[in-house]
Amino acid sequence: MAKTCVLAQIIENSVIAGDVFKLIVTAPAIAGIARPGQFVHLRLTDQLDPLLRRPLSIADCHAANGTLTLIYRVVGRGTMLMTKLQPGDTVDCMGPLGNGFTLTGQRPLLVGGGMGLAPLVMLAKAFCSRPATILMGGRNEQELFWPNMYAGVCPNIHITTDDGSIGYRGFTIDVLPGLLEKEKFDVIYACGPHVMLQGVAAIAAKYKIPCQVSLEEYMACGVGACLSCTCAGTSGKRHKVCTDGPVFWAEEVAW
Ligand SMILES: Cc1cc2nc3c(=O)[nH]c(=O)nc-3n(C[C@H](O)[C@H](O)[C@H](O)COP(=O)(O)OP(=O)(O)OC[C@H]3O[C@@H](n4cnc5c(N)ncnc54)[C@H](O)[C@@H]3O)c2cc1C
Ligand code: FES
Repeated sequence: MAKTCVLAQIIENSVIAGDVFKLIVTAPAIAGIARPGQFVHLRLTDQLDPLLRRPLSIADCHAANGTLTLIYRVVGRGTMLMTKLQPGDTVDCMGPLGNGFTLTGQRPLLVGGGMGLAPLVMLAKAFCSRPATILMGGRNEQELFWPNMYAGVCPNIHITTDDGSIGYRGFTIDVLPGLLEKEKFDVIYACGPHVMLQGVAAIAAKYKIPCQVSLEEYMACGVGACLSCTCAGTSGKRHKVCTDGPVFWAEEVAW
């Protein structure tokens, strides 16, 4: 798959909730070919610090306008620097990277936890002719700004929060078996914390539903050269999350 490195111009960089920002950039060469589940690798300054790029999922892309939407949480130095970007500034953007989701199935269920809900926005839009259902989880109501992002895209939204401030009190994996009993989903796509993905994979296997998971590992090069992002595979081989993934069939991963 062709990938490119461009100076992407910032169109918008705004707070959407607490420490979460929406960044819209112009990068036509990437927006024209990006698929749901792929990511970009951003280099933030022309200084050596921070040295490494930062991986962010493509939350949405608009091929006609040439824009990409990224949604990021501020966690450390790189993402803090990202908050300073102003419209008109540029950022060095490599992408689209990795392999995206396989769009099979007529009754898809999307399961997202925390920032794992970012790549699922673009995935949900790709299913517009056979609308997806989404099960979303977060720590509390403040973190659950996501329903706005999925409005008009997913007709059925199920919510869980750890503290019960909105939706069901508990985790997505507590609710998942009940949903699978009630509705006949034929594929599950999941992105979120490792423990959630492990749980979703086990439940999907029990119900014999094909399941794809998007993994997150610390990355350095993002293009398969440094091996910093590997994870164990069931075949005995280690997978490179940046180039073999980040999306895998659940049974390919040795949980
Ligand atoms: C494929 C992929 C897609 C991602 N998509 C998103 C997204 O859409 N939105 C979002 O908010 N976050 C996403 N992340 C996590 C995001 O990359 C990290 O939060 C970010 O790199 C942290 O950088 P920092 O400098 O602020 O933090 P620091 O902790 O200072 O970073 C230090 C180093 O660790 C790496 N790192 C830190 N946390 C992570 C992490 N969770 N995953 C991978 N590398 C990490 C950084 O890239 C950097 O090299 C994604 C990660 C991966 C691998
Ligand atoms: S980040 Fe270098 S091989 Fe994956």
